[in-house]
Amino acid sequence: MATTVIGVRQERPARFLASTNGKKVVMAVTGVILFVFVIGHMLGNLQIYEGPEKINAYGRFLKSIPELLWSVRSVLLLAVCLHIWASIGLALKNNAARPKGYSRKKNVASSYAARTMYWSGPILFCFIVYHLLHFTVGIVHPGSDFKEGDVYHNMVSSFSVWYVSAWYIFSMILLGLHVGHGASSFVQSLGFNHPRHTPVIKKAAAVFAFLLIAGFISIPISVLAGLVR
Ligand code: HEM
Repeated sequence: MATTVIGVRQERPARFLASTNGKKVVMAVTGVILFVFVIGHMLGNLQIYEGPEKINAYGRFLKSIPELLWSVRSVLLLAVCLHIWASIGLALKNNAARPKGYSRKKNVASSYAARTMYWSGPILFCFIVYHLLHFTVGIVHPGSDFKEGDVYHNMVSSFSVWYVSAWYIFSMILLGLHVGHGASSFVQSLGFNHPRHTPVIKKAAAVFAFLLIAGFISIPISVLAGLVR
């Protein structure tokens, strides 16, 4: 099936969004927005290694321009909603198109990450809800009291609780699988499919996903190991 953006010009927006290609483009564009956020967030979080002043100042900086903060939050929320909407639409279309008795054979050809997309997505959604209640709102905060504005204390106190760290580590591994596969299928969704370049792009996506997981996971591990306290 053709998977190019050329269709955007040929169809009306509503019809395009209702089509498989339209939903793939929505998945790809919102996926890129979320990907850029997650990379920035991971790099920002690594400032924990520079001590409490640095990461707390970074936290204050992020909230210092409310208009910017709420614009970014709105874009992220819209991107998450559209990403989920398109994924449900594609899953329904795939299910409707799949011939009976075909599902087992299909698994042989698809990668482990590809098969996990539809269940890693909902788990990551649960992670994001938990994460916001944990670090932004502060109402779910095992370990000790949540201190508004003290990002360093909030991270160290809750990652000292092994099951909080375990939940984050598990979620970050899923995030890596999800992002790694998402990044490589993004390339195909937008029609950039090339026998020589596609495998290179897939490898690059895997390396990115690994660095992303390593950066995030290093934080709970460092706290558990007593390197950050
Ligand atoms: C080890 C992994 C992570 C750590 C330690 C971490 C840490 C934090 C902290 C401390 C905050 C609150 C910042 C503040 O209020 O000043 C925050 C906010 C947030 N995090 Fe994470 N995060 C992690 C992973 C993720 C991932 C994987 C995602 C998305 C998939 C994510 C999405 C968000 C969002 C959307 C916010 C709210 C930003 C806002 O205030 O609007 N985080 N994170």
